[in-house]
Amino acid sequence: MNSTLSIAVLSGKGGVGKTNITLNLAYALHQAGFRTLLMDCDLGLANLDVLLGITPQQNLQDTLLGEARVEDVLCQIAPGLDVLPAASGVPEMNDMHPELRELLLARLKPVLGRYDYVFMDMGAGISETVQAFAALAALRIVVITPEPTSLTDSYALIKVLNSRYGVQDFKVLVNQATSAREAQNSFDKLYGACHHFLQLKPELLGHIRMDKHLPEAVCRQKPLLLYAPGSQAAQDLQSLASRLQKARQGMLDWLGKRDVLQEER
Ligand SMILES: Nc1ncnc2c1ncn2[C@@H]1O[C@H](COP(=O)(O)OP(=O)(O)OP(=O)(O)O)[C@@H](O)[C@H]1O
Ligand SMILES: [Mg+2]
Repeated sequence: MNSTLSIAVLSGKGGVGKTNITLNLAYALHQAGFRTLLMDCDLGLANLDVLLGITPQQNLQDTLLGEARVEDVLCQIAPGLDVLPAASGVPEMNDMHPELRELLLARLKPVLGRYDYVFMDMGAGISETVQAFAALAALRIVVITPEPTSLTDSYALIKVLNSRYGVQDFKVLVNQATSAREAQNSFDKLYGACHHFLQLKPELLGHIRMDKHLPEAVCRQKPLLLYAPGSQAAQDLQSLASRLQKARQGMLDWLGKRDVLQEER
């Protein structure tokens, strides 16, 4: 029976913090004893490897366009924490042909079930690949910042996923917030638009404070949780990881009835 929780991390606007959030949430859950996979699904401009300071020999594209097996491409970062790296600068991957996507899914499926959590770090925006993977995940985290452009772009992302794939469940994470109140205000605006125009009720997962340690960690190519575990943003990420643990616990029955990656309708 499936017990893997797949999570797509999305955003309308680029550069809002998806890759760092994905990496650190995966790290936190790994530290809590869960088997965790980090998939770099930013297939056009991958950079999980850069944030980790690793140089993968092979990547996801090699399993699609070449001979490599998914097992050969996996990079073990620590026991129980693996990364599936992607190549950068392969534009055709960003608007992946449906046939290629099916092939990728078929190759991934036997591997994904080994993990408690599978995180998919998506590229920004609403490419076909983003839409397809977001619709397949069991849970979607839409990352926003308090900037108005981030709000309008994330609304557009939610709208297209809802109208094209019938997706209704969205969790919202406000990054680079200066306070809990600012985060709540940003969320309220997005919620208001989603509720009014789409009759959807996205949920606020939480927020991460603006923290200078985060760009420092990026420059050192280390996850924030390793570089500055006591920092404000690291504390926020830890409490978000606990929330994801509770969410998975509550979803186990439902997860048991579906595949790791499966569309709802
Ligand atoms: N909470 C934060 N506090 C301070 N700076 C942050 C925070 N979150 C993200 N940043 C900054 O934003 C930059 C971009 O982050 P990241 O690469 O994770 O974004 P992204 O959404 O994955 O971008 P892309 O859309 O290009 O994939 C980081 O390098 C960091 O400097
Ligand atoms: Mg990114």
